[in-house]
Amino acid sequence: MDLVVGATGDLGGRITRRLLEQGEQVRVLVRDTSDVSPLKAAGAELAFGDLREILTVDAACKGIDRIISTATGASRGGDDSVDAVDRKGHATLLRCAESAGVPRIVYVSATGFKSDSPVDLARAKATTAEAIRSSGLSYTILQPTFFMESWIGFVVGAQLRLGDTVQVIGDPARRYGFVAVENVADLVLSVLDHPDAQRADIPLSAGSCSYQQIVGWIAKAIDRDLQVHSVPPSSAIEGFPPILNELWSFAATGGMGPLTTPKVAEKFGFEMIRPRAFVQDFFGTD
Ligand SMILES: NC(=O)c1ccc[n+]([C@@H]2O[C@H](COP(=O)([O-])OP(=O)(O)OC[C@H]3O[C@@H](n4cnc5c(N)ncnc54)[C@H](OP(=O)(O)O)[C@@H]3O)[C@@H](O)[C@H]2O)c1
Repeated sequence: MDLVVGATGDLGGRITRRLLEQGEQVRVLVRDTSDVSPLKAAGAELAFGDLREILTVDAACKGIDRIISTATGASRGGDDSVDAVDRKGHATLLRCAESAGVPRIVYVSATGFKSDSPVDLARAKATTAEAIRSSGLSYTILQPTFFMESWIGFVVGAQLRLGDTVQVIGDPARRYGFVAVENVADLVLSVLDHPDAQRADIPLSAGSCSYQQIVGWIAKAIDRDLQVHSVPPSSAIEGFPPILNELWSFAATGGMGPLTTPKVAEKFGFEMIRPRAFVQDFFGTD
């Protein structure tokens, strides 16, 4: 049986649905504060709990063959701080997995997340990844680049609802790697039993481009005259979550750069959604 932690999130939800469609048995560690009815309807076994509550994590790990964790406190806030969820919560998960004899874990980190990063989320995820590597479990640590749904769909889409100017932190011509959430789910599903993915870190990126290019493609797709306005790193775009502004400043000052991994998709057998195709699909009218 698989245990998905983060199943009420975007990526974890896709992974859970696809595992169930493949006929796998899936348990999900979920909080009753989130809407779990779609997971229940899809056939998941609900284990109510919280990464911050060790007894619930311990119970959820019993009888599990593979853990997939996509959980993060970054988008939640309050008691779900980065420290409580991404650092301590995952230390708890690993401890419970080891004591329950779970053989394998797949963990979603990100490209460029290192233990000496100025961003706490990056440091916390790097610490968790290191603990997983040092554990006795077979593991795969995924290192995707910026999710297009967040960093193009939300970042540009939210600004276009307010006007024709898109604010960009740092140089608009700077290129970053991007990947679609569905492709991250493709990779998770493919690595679960793959012999080449045991005790491995795998980066994933569909393509690299700049916000200047992205805004140009969107302007064409929606037939609007759009402007790009650059703000310096360390400034915040109003209305955006603090973690997003912080990560963008980190990326804009060299923390993340261009990356494309065509061989990963080829090896694990799926088609990458390229940034331009994503833009057309997300913003286009036809
Ligand atoms: N966005 C990007 O560009 C990007 C890039 C690279 C990697 N990643 C990583 O990809 C992963 C998946 O992202 P996503 O967009 O699917 O995340 P998401 O939609 O924000 O989902 C976060 C999940 O974590 C769960 N969670 C939070 N605190 C918890 C706790 N205390 N106990 C148990 N569960 C808890 C949430 O459950 P509730 O619904 O109950 O709150 C939710 O299911 C994350 O680890 C993220 O860091 C993201």
